[in-house]
This record gives sequence, structure tokens and C-alpha cells, in this order.
Amino acid sequence: MKKTLILLIITIFTVSLLFMGVGCKAAEEEVAAEEEVALSGEVEVFSWWTAGGEAEGLQAMIDIFNEKYPDVEFINATVAGGAGTEAKPVLIARMTGGDPPDSFQVHAGHELIDTWGVGDYLEPVNFIFEEEGWYDFYPEDMISILSSGDDILSVPVNIHRSNVLWYNKAVFEENGIEVPTTFDEFFAAANVLEAAGITPLAMGEAWTATHLFENVLLGVVGSDDYVGLMDGSVRWDSDGVKEAIQTFIDILDYVNTDNSALTWDAAAQYVIDGTAAMTIMGDWAEGYFKSKGLTPDVEFGYVPSPGTSGIFMALSDTFCLPKDAPNRDAAIAWLKLCGSIEGQDAFNPVKGSIPPRTDADVSLYDVYLKSAIDDFGSNVITPSIQHGAAVSETWLAAIGDVITLLLADKDVDAAAAAFQTAADENL
Ligand code: GAL
Repeated sequence: MKKTLILLIITIFTVSLLFMGVGCKAAEEEVAAEEEVALSGEVEVFSWWTAGGEAEGLQAMIDIFNEKYPDVEFINATVAGGAGTEAKPVLIARMTGGDPPDSFQVHAGHELIDTWGVGDYLEPVNFIFEEEGWYDFYPEDMISILSSGDDILSVPVNIHRSNVLWYNKAVFEENGIEVPTTFDEFFAAANVLEAAGITPLAMGEAWTATHLFENVLLGVVGSDDYVGLMDGSVRWDSDGVKEAIQTFIDILDYVNTDNSALTWDAAAQYVIDGTAAMTIMGDWAEGYFKSKGLTPDVEFGYVPSPGTSGIFMALSDTFCLPKDAPNRDAAIAWLKLCGSIEGQDAFNPVKGSIPPRTDADVSLYDVYLKSAIDDFGSNVITPSIQHGAAVSETWLAAIGDVITLLLADKDVDAAAAAFQTAADENL
């Protein structure tokens, strides 16, 4: 009898503990749900993603946000213009004029740290990394290019590769030429294409010339010297850089003449149309091609730009938290989505980029992106100049000025000297 009573008490105790557990879990879930539902008002997210691929990628994340927070109005504050050339001045005016958006797009590395990490513009987001357990899913190298001292200043949403040569497969087949991996092969193919009345290489407005230049520079001087140019251990007026400048000028002979008026996506469209055979662009071009219904390895192909096999020129788009964000809670909710596996696996396969998280579901990524994921894991990584990783915005502007002049006067020695002056002033 006594034994039965004890057993009964134990059973009641265990069952009630179990219920308490379930109850606690239910209560926790309720709190979490309430937190999500409780968010209302609006959130203004500032970016320059308006072209095919990038706009759809952003929309994929906005759709998830809207589903999670139906009472928050998402204000998609975009300013068109590739690489943020038009958006960045608007952003600076807003940030310095006391009118910050709730969150804005910024490249990891020098753009983030040198422009926004100084002064009192951003709230560190370490607490989000802690709350979301992200330290386990972001490599230390990634966190370090987001940080000023111990402060993590933004949340990465992707990694892009800038050194890709995209080509129209049918054009190459019809002209019986091999896809170039060296500069000699590039010029050989370009001559055949030109004779056939096809523009060998599509290029667009000024920043895409700088983008092409960073690729040629890397391809000619190699990864060690390229990195050395950024830290001052290699001179910009060295023979290697002069050779890169000359190669760049030679390539310009094979570029469409209407380039200065063309956006990057309009240049990519020339490759789709077959009026041009190739373009050297970051892998947001993949997002563009796919947004136009093309499939990698079917209509278009891709190889590292000439001379850069085994090297992955990287950049990363991130979002940050301005100090006086008018809708801080909703901004935090947006940032949590940007850094989550759910957000990244919805965004990146459409955007044409790879996730910075280590736990992505690779099966969601197409054949090109799978190759980019593999290459990122095995290649030498170098930072992009044009897209904020390698140099500050001030240095980039000086480099851009040199290239604009170079396009007009083709003076190799003058450009090399001016590059060196820009380095001296900014290092
Ligand atoms: C880059 C940016 C990419 C893509 C591209 C063209 O600077 O990192 O995400 O948007 O500009 O707009």
C-alpha cells in the first residue's frame, strides 16, 4: 500500500513536471510570437538594388519579412545606380543631415569601417550576434571585416565574387573559339569576334571601368602584389602595375563604344542578345541573367577573369543599424532576417551570391553558385577595390578619377604616378 502511494506521488510529480515543461515551452513560444506580432509601424531599408536579379533577391527577403511582421510597413527605399554610385551620396546627405533610414546597405571592409565606423553613426550589433547565436555560424575572418575594435558594425547578407568573365555560349560555339583564361587567349578570341562583327567585351559606365581595371590588375600582378598595393608594400608606379594599365588600355579597344552611357545590366544585356560575347562583372550578373530566364551553363558560361584562376576577388553586402534609427525594433527584426539562414537561403540563390553563413543549404544553389561556394572555400581570397572591401571610399574616388582620365588620354606613366599619389594620400 505504502509502495503504491509512493509510486503514485512520483507519477503525479513527473507528469506535472512534464506539463510544466510543455507549459513553459508554450509560454516561451507565445512570448516569441507576441514579440513578432507586437511589431508595428514601419521600417525603411535603404539600398541600390533595383536591377534584374538584385531587386528580386531583395524582394524575396521582403516577402519573408512581411509574412513575419504583417503590421510593419516595409519601405523599400532604393536609389537606382549600380555599385551604389547614386545611392551613396544620398545616404551621406541623409546620415549627416539627421535623417537616417532604419537600416542601409553597405559593403563590408573599408567602406563600412572608414566611412561609417568613424564618428558616431552606427550602433554595434554584437547583441544581435549573441542573441541569435551567430558566432557559431560566421567565420572569424568575416566578423573581422565587419568590426571596428570589438564592435561589430553590420550584418552580412552575402558574399559576391567580382572576378568573373561571363560569356554567351552560342556566340563562342558559332565562332569556333575557346573561352579565354589568359590575356593572350583573350586577345586571340577578341580578334576573331571583332572580325565577325561582334563586340568582344561589353562594358558600361565609369564604375564598371574601375571594376574591369581591378580584374586586369589582379590578373597581371597576381594576388600577392595586388594585396601589397593595398597595404603599401608594393608601389602603384611599379612595372607590374604599368603592365596592368597597358593591358587594360589594350582591352578597351575591344569594348563597345557606347559604354559611358550604359548601366552594368544594359552591358550584360548585350551578352544575352549576342551583340557582345563577354562581360567582366561581379556575380550579380548571374542574378541578372537568371532574371531574364537564362540558365547557367546553358545560354551563358563563366570563368575567372583572365589570369585570375584560383583567386576569388570578394566583397560582401551588409546592412547596419544607424544610431538614431527611427524604428529601431523593426530595424533589428530586419537585421535578424538578413543574418538568418532563412533570409540568406531565400536571397542569395536569386541575387547570384553565396551565403556568408557556414550552414547554408547548398542544394538550393545553382551550378554556378555551387562552383562559387567551392572556390570561396579553396581559392586565395582578395578584396575588391570597386566594391568597398579593399580601399576607403575616398581612395576609391581617387582611383576612379585616374581611370576616367586614363580612358581619355591612355597615358600609362601618368596614370601610374597618379595611382601612387592616391595611395600616398590614403594609406
Ligand atoms: C555592388 C553590390 C552588388 C550589386 C552591384 C550592382 O556594389 O555589392 O550587390 O548590387 O553593386 O548594383
